[in-house]
Amino acid sequence: MHPTDKIVSDARAAFDAAATVADLEQAKSRFLGKSGALTELLKGLGKLSAEERPKAGAAINEAKVRVEDLLAARRDAILAAELDQRLAAESVDVTLPGRRQAGGGLHPISRAQERIEKLFASMGFAAADGPEIENDFYNFTALRMFPDHPSRSMQDTFYVADSDKVLRTHTSPVQIRHMQSHQPPIRIICPGRVYRVDHDATHSPMFHQIEGLWVDEGVSLADLKGTLTQFFRAFFERDDINVRFRPSYFPFVEPGVEIDMEWERKDGEVKYLEIGGAGVVHPDVLRNGNIDPERYSGFAFGMGLDRLAMLKYGVNDLRLFFDSDLKFLRQFR
Ligand code: FA5
Repeated sequence: MHPTDKIVSDARAAFDAAATVADLEQAKSRFLGKSGALTELLKGLGKLSAEERPKAGAAINEAKVRVEDLLAARRDAILAAELDQRLAAESVDVTLPGRRQAGGGLHPISRAQERIEKLFASMGFAAADGPEIENDFYNFTALRMFPDHPSRSMQDTFYVADSDKVLRTHTSPVQIRHMQSHQPPIRIICPGRVYRVDHDATHSPMFHQIEGLWVDEGVSLADLKGTLTQFFRAFFERDDINVRFRPSYFPFVEPGVEIDMEWERKDGEVKYLEIGGAGVVHPDVLRNGNIDPERYSGFAFGMGLDRLAMLKYGVNDLRLFFDSDLKFLRQFR
């Protein structure tokens, strides 16, 4: 047998014996590597005579091509076998039941907010928005809560150091911002987060309010009572809702009221929960919003959204809404 034929047949046997690509690489080096059989033959060419050399060289090259072809074919066969094996091992049982996606749901506060927005939209109120980090001017002064005015201490909040910025204590600053950029008729609600230094079963440091503002010719306290009573009946889906408008003081309305809602009846005694403040917009506040108080009047209200959600869903501690306890939250899914 010619030496190159022997090398090719040895290579075929060695490649066939390789079970993995790594084995194959090792076998390859025996034939095609730096000191492999074919490389050694090539090195020996120099010793041959000028007539013998081309023939011998051609035979070595031909053998090299055959060995490389054998190698490639064996590599393909090994990879195909490995793939088959993997597919067989990883077979999928399509009859198994699927994994369930845990179903999420809206937070009860978001749910209540969406419902409130819809109900007010049906009465012609658009939704407006304002910044949560507010200027002292919009949060207090423009609403006649002047520096050193005692009403500021009832809404103690978080101040941004060395600036006139505060985390807004109520949604009322949106009244001023909206009036400054719109002329009557104005009919808006503004739901949003507000902040105060408070913490007990009915007060949390971050909570939500819904501001309402209606400014037009001839708007009065009677419109306020009618609008809110209508809202409460629709929100709680009850016509016998007891709402109490109790005289109160807010510097930015005159007259002002506190809105209380019947919460529970125990031993014949009726308990009320304060839901919000409201009143007829003070003429100076209209002026701060560039609106002529001689021509226009309006009412405003600010309700605690979390308090409304407490009453709607029968929750007796406001803090539960913000504890992220899934057992509590899943009840509202
Ligand atoms: C105000 O914030 C006024 N801006 C409301 C207003 C608007 C009056 C327009 C007149 C005209 P008050 O501080 O009472 O008012 O807060 C309004 C409501 O927010 C309260 O009735 C209560 O329902 C809710 N609230 C107040 N503090 C908290 C708190 N810490 N946690 C949860 N809810 C609160």
